Amino acid sequence: MTFRPAKAKVGVLVSGRGSNLQALLDAAADPAFPAEIGLVLSNVPGVYALERAARAGVPTRVIEHKDFASRDAFDAAMDAALREAGVEIVCLAGFMRLLSAGFVSGWAGRMLNIHPALLPSFKGLHTHRRAIEAGVKLHGCTVHLVTPELDDGPILAQAAVPVLASDDEDSLAARVLAEEHRIYPLALRLLVEGRVRVDGNRAVVDAPGPGEGIRNPEM
Ligand code: GRF
Repeated sequence: MTFRPAKAKVGVLVSGRGSNLQALLDAAADPAFPAEIGLVLSNVPGVYALERAARAGVPTRVIEHKDFASRDAFDAAMDAALREAGVEIVCLAGFMRLLSAGFVSGWAGRMLNIHPALLPSFKGLHTHRRAIEAGVKLHGCTVHLVTPELDDGPILAQAAVPVLASDDEDSLAARVLAEEHRIYPLALRLLVEGRVRVDGNRAVVDAPGPGEGIRNPEM
């Protein structure tokens, strides 16, 4: 029997269709992948992401932001759900709520986001439309550690795609999305394997050493 170390437990926060969640679920289905998805949490009931999780046999929770009087109270409820489920790493995957500084600092160094642009360009929404309007010839996606500032934080992985003269928002989005699905699991693996060292606002990816991982207190 091959010895496999315990897998890091990941909580995925979603609000919609969940194609990035699917990429993470698919990666985690490989016994060699170092993380498992332990909880999918949505702030919107009935979204397709929840169905994807259920189909993969992953527990789900719906915590509706509109049931809470403040952002802090909503974030505290999410935080409690994640901790109850034993989550060690959080992945934002199309989660459409701003997070409070308190929540973010509680998961510092252990929360990833995927953004559909080559950060630091095109933070915020409608990135594909804005990229076309700006006339950039390369566009793409970024996986980064989450810091209190929106779409900021040390970059773990990026992928670039060409912007074609014939592109509209949808065709460009589809090209970028395929890359999102490729790099999100890759970046999660880097983090879990302890191959990410944060130096200021830069993430330096190191070769793995023995015993390194998310539980390494130096991270
Ligand atoms: C993706 O484009 C992601 O980069 C952005 O929101 C979208 C979510 O799509 N943060 P999906 O729900 O993962 O399909």
